[in-house]
Amino acid sequence: MPAYDLIIRNGRIVDGTGAPARDGAVALRGDRIAAVGDVACRATVEIDAGGHVVAPGFIDVHAHDDAAVVREPAMDFKLMQGVTTDVVGNCGAGVAPADDVFRRYYPAGFGPILGDSDLAWSTTDEYFAAVDAASPACNVAAYVPHGVLRSIVLRNEQRAPTAGELARMAGLLEEGMAAGAIGMSTGLIYPPGRWAQTDEIIALANVVAKHGGIYTSHIRDEGPRLLEAVQEAITIGERSGCPVQISHHKAGGPAWFGMTEQSLAMIEAARDRGVDVTVDVYPYVASSSSLAAMHRAGGAGLWDRVPSIIASVTFNKEKYEGKYVSEIAEELGVTPTEAAERVLRDEQNTPSVIMFIMDEADVRRVVSWPHAMIGSDGLPTGGKPHPRLYGTMPRVIQKYVRETNAITLEDAVRKMTSLPATKHRIAERGELRPGCFADVVVFDPDTIADVATYADPRQYPTGIDYVVVNGAVVVERGAQTSARPGRMLRRR
Ligand code: ZN
Ligand code: CU
Repeated sequence: MPAYDLIIRNGRIVDGTGAPARDGAVALRGDRIAAVGDVACRATVEIDAGGHVVAPGFIDVHAHDDAAVVREPAMDFKLMQGVTTDVVGNCGAGVAPADDVFRRYYPAGFGPILGDSDLAWSTTDEYFAAVDAASPACNVAAYVPHGVLRSIVLRNEQRAPTAGELARMAGLLEEGMAAGAIGMSTGLIYPPGRWAQTDEIIALANVVAKHGGIYTSHIRDEGPRLLEAVQEAITIGERSGCPVQISHHKAGGPAWFGMTEQSLAMIEAARDRGVDVTVDVYPYVASSSSLAAMHRAGGAGLWDRVPSIIASVTFNKEKYEGKYVSEIAEELGVTPTEAAERVLRDEQNTPSVIMFIMDEADVRRVVSWPHAMIGSDGLPTGGKPHPRLYGTMPRVIQKYVRETNAITLEDAVRKMTSLPATKHRIAERGELRPGCFADVVVFDPDTIADVATYADPRQYPTGIDYVVVNGAVVVERGAQTSARPGRMLRRR
């Protein structure tokens, strides 16, 4: 009888810890890694890696697939880029818990970020059960989104909660943490989360800390007040004792280019004081978000200054999707601001938008920072989503390892595997080590590349040979199989 179920032979093992690559094999038994290195015995299935890299499956720490993992559980856009675990509930946005107030808020509130959802659950626990029932192809871990809690308790009221309201939010958060959420996220530019003051968040972060979770934040400003916003996140971590993750760290807008040098220095100083602060980043100079939220937060003249593309809409797809706001303005004979307002009106506030607001030097600086991990921030909406949804992980290796040598291959893999697993308390994943869950990716380091573009984003990357989730092969010779072995990962 073969000793193992699956052996990947003739690989270049990059184990996720940052240790130097070495030649060898990886043997799997059931849903676990059984041996790494020299493997003499036989297996039922043997795969020849052909000298390509064998690494732990990638963990996308910044996903917005809360609705997608139930709606389209094949999750091809993540699996085909080597992602085996998706962390959802980011930016204060999510799908659970849900009540009728939130169900009405959702389509124009979080729909532009998460896509459609029937919200067919009430509690976080029921949502986690719905994920398991949908049987997605990748694993899923989730934050409790603060914006959802606030929407349920305070609707869109622009004030601090009463003691009773705060206790109700804390109760919902408590339920989410007990169900196995990994922490709480905030989105402090989006309504209703943006109406929360620091005290409210500290009070809720105290609940998260009690459960051993982490606090992650789309901070209050990523432009002129970037440093204040970073300081607020640090303060919340310091006062609550929660480890902190700053989402999609960037300096947005030409006037603020270069400011990540100061923001990272502030974070380093906090780390030296013992505050556990890390960041995630995606490897593109364009952001993507809700058009309505950006229009509200961006200030006058935003659409004149920033080249922007309408990514997805609900009704007039032919007319708007994939077009620059400036193009629409020209066609309509109006200003870009008026064009954006017209699109919002015609589409009942549901569009998402892509905005070219970053400088490559900042992106490279953040990607290269030792405590930065990779998160796609992909928006699984319809239309023409930002290409990061399909290409993030391959692009990091292509661009920052192969083309510019900004980081080593081992470090790039670490930023996508053990670093996020450790920070997010995702147990026994993110490393190729006997006993860990068998999430594995095999790729060609010389050809791995993102193919998705802004004009044509729905394209799979090249160079990914095999992807294994919980011991089951989900991508075989570059094509997705029908296996859907993913699980809801509840924090234990
Ligand atoms: Zn965000
Ligand atoms: Cu996000």
